[in-house]
Amino acid sequence: MEKQVFDSQKRPLRDLRISVTDKCNFRCQYCMPAEIFGPDYPFLPQHKLLSFEEITRLTGIFTSLGVEKIRITGGEPLMRRNLADLIRMIRQVDGVRDIAMTTNGSLLARHAEELKAAGLDRVTVSLDSLDDERFGRINGRGYRVEQILEGIEAAAAAGLGVKINMVVQRGVNDQDILPMARYFREKGHILRFIEFMDVGNSNGWKLDQVVPSREIIRMIHAEMPLEPVNPNYYGEVASRYRYAGTEQEIGLISSVTQAFCSTCTRARLSAEGRMYNCLFASEGEDLRDPLRAGMSDEELREKISAIWTRRDDRYSEERLKHTPGISQRTKVEMSHIGG
Ligand code: GTP
Ligand code: 5AD
Ligand code: SF4
Ligand code: SF4
Repeated sequence: MEKQVFDSQKRPLRDLRISVTDKCNFRCQYCMPAEIFGPDYPFLPQHKLLSFEEITRLTGIFTSLGVEKIRITGGEPLMRRNLADLIRMIRQVDGVRDIAMTTNGSLLARHAEELKAAGLDRVTVSLDSLDDERFGRINGRGYRVEQILEGIEAAAAAGLGVKINMVVQRGVNDQDILPMARYFREKGHILRFIEFMDVGNSNGWKLDQVVPSREIIRMIHAEMPLEPVNPNYYGEVASRYRYAGTEQEIGLISSVTQAFCSTCTRARLSAEGRMYNCLFASEGEDLRDPLRAGMSDEELREKISAIWTRRDDRYSEERLKHTPGISQRTKVEMSHIGG
């Protein structure tokens, strides 16, 4: 690292979350509702996507400013052809310590081994229910649970680190909290419960659909006693617990009831090359056109450094105070920048 940049709230830049496509084979209601993301939806054409070379070059510039952790997201990242080639290229970048990927798991069984061989460290698989009927409805395309569980096991067998993310919505999948906890405790994978958030402009979010993390802890603790575990690193998003007397952990991501903006070190890069300082930002800043117009690494470095330095985003903390008004703002779509 040549220089660590800090934003206006003294938060260092440490993580880069790179979206590689805005497409997804699922139509989760809370992210890409089928009524809006239909057959005629204008997804990005290939020439507007950053190429693997462009992503790798930008990654090198971001690491020179302090980034150590890379997360590949989408849409669904495995919808992007030859993704393992990109992982191999990012692995070569100086300063990259950890490469993770967020995926819906449906294409993972096919790709797990080549991703591991290319240098991927970890996957986080989204799974919201173990019940086929409910899961099919949530993913909007009738995908079966079995296919995702096969992906998860293939990833573990290939030697990838595995976490499972479950977005909990009251009245939709809260009855799955205990079955999910039991199942992944038995399998030995870390399950994280995520409070449903008001991302994007079309997910119809209401505060009463959020199941607060403390309620989830109480529910699980009553059946399987839990004890808190200290954070792994500065700014860790999930609060961690383990089943008492074991090493098996769960995590709770309380982005609504206990916002964690004050330690947020994450920048996001959309598939078309815009940099976002927050999951809820309305505007990103374009890096693709300057890059294609021939800007030097040093000039791009200055530009990225300036974008981070003036950052003052802390949407989730503001939402705590101003729900519901603030939720009406125009925001970037989740499928453009991943989770
Ligand atoms: P680890 O590196 O494994 O600790 O991953 P992580 O927990 O930082 O990342 P992951 O992508 O698994 O985050 C899980 C979920 O937390 C995401 O899908 C989002 O729903 C939420 N989340 C992650 N980062 C942010 C953030 O910066 N702001 C908000 N509001 N939510 C976030
Ligand atoms: N609230 C919380 N998490 C969400 N995700 C997608 N939409 C939301 C939302 N509205 C999660 C997905 C996945 C990651 C990409 O973000 O479940 O884990
Ligand atoms: Fe696809 Fe993930 Fe969005 Fe669901 S949450 S539509 S799997 S990108
Ligand atoms: Fe970071 Fe924005 Fe999420 Fe707060 S709301 S934790 S600033 S991405």
